Amino acid sequence: MKRIAILTSGGDCQGLNSTIRAVGKTLYNYYGNDGIEIYGIIDGYRGLIYGEYRKMKPDDFSGILTMGGTILGTSRQPFKLMRVIDENSVDKVAEMKKNYKKLELDCLVVLGGNGTQKTANLLSEEGLNVVSLPKTIDNDLWGTDKTFGFQSAVDIATNVIDCIHSTATSHGRVFIVEVMGHKVGWLTLYAGIAGGADIILIPEIPYDINRVIRDIKARTDKGKNFSILAVAEGAISKELAVLPKKQKKAALAEMKYPSISYEIAAKIEQATGQETRVTVPGHFQRGGSPDPYDRVLSTRFGVAAAQLIIDKKYGNMVALDNDKVVAVPLSKIAGKLKSVPKNSEIIETARKMGISFGD
Ligand code: F6P
Repeated sequence: MKRIAILTSGGDCQGLNSTIRAVGKTLYNYYGNDGIEIYGIIDGYRGLIYGEYRKMKPDDFSGILTMGGTILGTSRQPFKLMRVIDENSVDKVAEMKKNYKKLELDCLVVLGGNGTQKTANLLSEEGLNVVSLPKTIDNDLWGTDKTFGFQSAVDIATNVIDCIHSTATSHGRVFIVEVMGHKVGWLTLYAGIAGGADIILIPEIPYDINRVIRDIKARTDKGKNFSILAVAEGAISKELAVLPKKQKKAALAEMKYPSISYEIAAKIEQATGQETRVTVPGHFQRGGSPDPYDRVLSTRFGVAAAQLIIDKKYGNMVALDNDKVVAVPLSKIAGKLKSVPKNSEIIETARKMGISFGD
């Protein structure tokens, strides 16, 4: 009898359930319903630490292809606290190992983003058999060209920009659409290009507010009565970007606006005299059904993860490399962020189209 457990950890995204479905169905198809036991760990690593799980049935993996969120629940368990004994004197790593052994698992399947992969690697180094899958709307996981969830979030953010476009033109206003992504700008970049944004501000390319204002004025001079900015929630000015981490954090904490977009909007309005509005779709971008691209990608990833379990190739994350699904060692990807390269083809493409990055 094969015994595995699945958990989803970190911020949710579209495609978690379709991935769980693909893993489960592939394993039941291979081992038969009586040849495998699958446990669902509740709320990510928290469930593994505190021993909260449920035995799943083949039926649990049906009817969830299009469902948003995660049927297993999720939570954020910061990697940096994994080795810290908590307020209830719980040694988290020891408890996770204990529960893995108690369930007599052959493998733990982990669906998650950056922090989750770091903990997956830690557990693998601690001797557990782990197979992981790359999820996040941020697309910032090293070792894979795409994460599932990203394309569905691009669709939503693009739709927001599309809707804002018509109201911006009617009123002749400047609009900022604030897109999720504190550390990387993939989502803002793709939605910005897809939605025809005039200015795209991402964390990887610090902006100069005077340049942003100049570009908006240049549009007005050309007879364009509106401008659309796609701004990542982690967009940062050139002045702040050069500060040491601690000072940067302090400066951001002192900001008198709810987010960077509101500060940028206030400066634009003051300098141009043009009405400037901010729209923040927020967690909307992580909700709802996975789009067809993510359904296919998560199915491919899920099947590949099940195959790794069948082949006993543990310690790997499934990944997309030039449209091929491959396995990459957790030790190679854990702790590495995939940022937007400043001189990448996609950035150059946007620049040639006249899109400004405010730099
Ligand atoms: O999961 C990724 C992400 O959606 C980021 O884009 C965003 O910055 C962050 O999570 C928001 O985190 P939370 O859901 O904990 O507010």
